[in-house]
Amino acid sequence: MKDLLKFLTCGNVDDGKSTLIGHMLYDAKLLYTDQRRALELDSRLKSQNGSLDYSLLLDGLMAEREQGITIDVAYRYFSTDARSFIVADAPGHEEYTRNMAVGASFADLAVILVDVAKGVKRQTRRHIRICNLMGIRHFVFAINKMDLVHYNKQYFDEVVEEIQRIITNFQVDSSCSIPVSATQGDNITRPSQRMGWYDGKPLLAYLEQVDVAHGQKDNAGFVMPVQRVCRPNSDYRGFQGQIESGEISVSSEIMVLPKGEKAKIKTIYQGDKQVEKAGAGRPVSISLDREVDVSRGCVLVKDFTGMVSDMFSARLLWMDDEPLIPGKNYLVKLGAKTAPGTVMSVKYKIDINDGTHVPADVIYKNEIADCQISLSEKIVMDKFSRCEIMGEFILTDRVTNMTSACGVIKHDLRRSDNLVWQETDVTRKMRAAQKGQEPLTLWFTGLSGSGKSALANALEKRLLALGKHTMLLDGDNVRMGLCRNLGFTHQDRIENIRRVAEVAKLMNDAGLIVLTAFISPYGQDRENARNIVGDNFVEIYVSTPIEVCEQRDVKGLYAKARRGEIPNFTGVTSAYEPPANPEIQVDTSACTLEEATDQILKSLGLLG
Ligand code: ADX
Repeated sequence: MKDLLKFLTCGNVDDGKSTLIGHMLYDAKLLYTDQRRALELDSRLKSQNGSLDYSLLLDGLMAEREQGITIDVAYRYFSTDARSFIVADAPGHEEYTRNMAVGASFADLAVILVDVAKGVKRQTRRHIRICNLMGIRHFVFAINKMDLVHYNKQYFDEVVEEIQRIITNFQVDSSCSIPVSATQGDNITRPSQRMGWYDGKPLLAYLEQVDVAHGQKDNAGFVMPVQRVCRPNSDYRGFQGQIESGEISVSSEIMVLPKGEKAKIKTIYQGDKQVEKAGAGRPVSISLDREVDVSRGCVLVKDFTGMVSDMFSARLLWMDDEPLIPGKNYLVKLGAKTAPGTVMSVKYKIDINDGTHVPADVIYKNEIADCQISLSEKIVMDKFSRCEIMGEFILTDRVTNMTSACGVIKHDLRRSDNLVWQETDVTRKMRAAQKGQEPLTLWFTGLSGSGKSALANALEKRLLALGKHTMLLDGDNVRMGLCRNLGFTHQDRIENIRRVAEVAKLMNDAGLIVLTAFISPYGQDRENARNIVGDNFVEIYVSTPIEVCEQRDVKGLYAKARRGEIPNFTGVTSAYEPPANPEIQVDTSACTLEEATDQILKSLGLLG
């Protein structure tokens, strides 16, 4: 099988990206006859003097742009005698950063177009930065439009000097600059007669021989994320996946992470062929000499350099139309593993053009930021710079299932390693038993003035009368103490609800029945609270209509909000997301306080 090179082309519309690739395919006779004919006919119609317009071959993207429909990444496959290629073509403008990142995540090398007359621009630095973030370590700079500077060496040298200065700031394993003319075909597939001073290879020849084997592939030891456990009969249990780094042979001892159990390799299959050893890039099925608990998402390793952790710092490229807000819960997919996780804090964002760090709390689409991420469980990971596959991840939105960001791990935050959960002799169960009750968190949610506090207050009195041990956490009160440093921005409300949920959990651990009265306007935050508190979480939606709440206006806040004196006021200038499936729903405009408390007690099975 021929060796495959996956590369990405970067450049803005008028840099000649499409013309370059089009010319390469045409000259190297890599087009089908009908494509070639169509190009010749199209050019006659569309180009000024009837000469071939090679960019017409690759103008799918531009057509999309003109029509204003979603621009994605276009992939093209071609093959020469020496090598097979897949080229990804993504738009170069800043608003399409995410598209370029998607193209770069698949590629081993980037061909970056630079207009020799214009020199190195901000966009060139941005393109290098995005490619580097996504793991590209090999670059070719196609210094284009040499015909416009009369093939003058001096112009080329100046650009190359500038490029060399820039790339010292990035992790680059190989870099090469080639003077080309995409329209005239100089140094594309054949050495140019017009630039005798250039003694390097033309672009295609360079791409045919460049070595992009990852120097780092073996640094991380043997790594194989398990994608599938295969059990065709009771004698064979094979763990299937691709070897991402290192090499392994029969009877070597490996470790299964995250648990850390050890076993020896019994057999290795590549397809249906049994082999003695296998290395990076090979899909294999491995069986072990003893029973070990292995499932999808586990990782087989030997001499592994990474870690098992639930907190790490990462560099993210934000791709979602909704901005990144710390505290929101996402699904983190890393290797074959998926786990819920939260961006705890944004350290700073990175100016995508010049690399400077800019303070930020919120990150918008196409921005890059350094963040701290916390997961709900410990998973196997490594620094991206050491092992790409164990160091890259995506964040997906739990509701829309869309990819919100892609990112790379910089390092783990060993903080969580120094914390060890201490088991106490007196348990939650014992504390609850002593009080003769089942701990609960009764989570009231609803608009300001909906009657949450009044209802929670009345209910607590009834519970007390029933001999229950309770605690009421009320929004206004908690905001005067534990949460006095928080306001009403989305971010502050997330933190408010998180703290209250953690306190409710501790009080449940103490055996108490907890009642909480917070607007808690966002479904995601209430879901988060439910995850923190656990099974004994009861969501009570106080669904009193806003008109009634506003009419009551007990604290006069709606009137103030309408006058524009309170920003982000729920129901007026900030959203309230009603729960879709609350355990209990009450409307205090439709019944008395007593009827409402009766209804809740009945639903909880506490009313005789
Ligand atoms: S939450 O959204 O974070 O859950 P919380 O229940 O703690 O809100 O606090 C709501 C109370 O704060 C309201 O009952 C009201 O008295 C007061 N408040 C002050 N400003 C606002 C605001 N902008 N939006 C909502 N409530 C506000």
